[in-house]
Amino acid sequence: MRLAFDARMARMATGGANYRLFWQEFRRTFDSTGAIAPSGRRLCRALARYVAGDGQPRRILEVGPGTGVVTDAIIMQMGPRDTLDVVELNDRFVAALRQRLVDDPNWQRAAERIRIHHLPIEDLDATEPFDVIVSGLPFNNFPVDLVQNILAHLEKLAAPGATLSFFEYVAIRRIKAVVCAKPERERLNGIGAVLNDAFAQRQFRQECVVANVPPAWVHHLRFAG
Ligand SMILES: C[S@@+](CC[C@H](N)C(=O)[O-])C[C@H]1O[C@@H](n2cnc3c(N)ncnc32)[C@H](O)[C@@H]1O
Repeated sequence: MRLAFDARMARMATGGANYRLFWQEFRRTFDSTGAIAPSGRRLCRALARYVAGDGQPRRILEVGPGTGVVTDAIIMQMGPRDTLDVVELNDRFVAALRQRLVDDPNWQRAAERIRIHHLPIEDLDATEPFDVIVSGLPFNNFPVDLVQNILAHLEKLAAPGATLSFFEYVAIRRIKAVVCAKPERERLNGIGAVLNDAFAQRQFRQECVVANVPPAWVHHLRFAG
């Protein structure tokens, strides 16, 4: 009871600071941050849908956690023997995440099984494969070859049968493509082609989270077993 209360208070205290930090980073590093605010609670829950397992220890990877709202949802679903590796590019987000490990009782309880890596996901070495991958990366902001390289790298990091869950805002590519210049339209079409290819090969579920600003598609893919 006391622990649940502490966790709620810690979440409320970090909530406002998280929004401020996210907004600052959106303005400072638009391409890599890719959103004006952290994901809403329902989107976070949908992204963490395949974290809970059957009791066997699982290795979980989260890419692009930002201020850690999806990480919260992942930690809630983690089993007592699961581990979580979190990979974040932005030094200010990394500092905020490390602080959560100190301040937030839910994070503290799993702290020994959580590792925070400050690097681009492209540089994470494939040592032991991951069973679950959750990504918050803003693919629609990246060059086409980076999206291709990251998807190929995630596949290398994945155990056979591992899931990859990620989101994109509904219709964002189509809307941008209408208003932007030709080179940008070509980049967006290229990303669409790369993602559609991945969906055709690996997607087993797609869900629409309407109660998010803006609404988002969550894609769930499974790597070959
Ligand atoms: C759209 S935000 C998502 C944040 C959070 N997951 C959420 O849903 O609120 C994208 C995050 O990906 C991070 N990021 C962008 N490129 C990255 C890369 N190559 N490797 C690791 N993190 C990256 C950004 O710094 C940012 O924290």
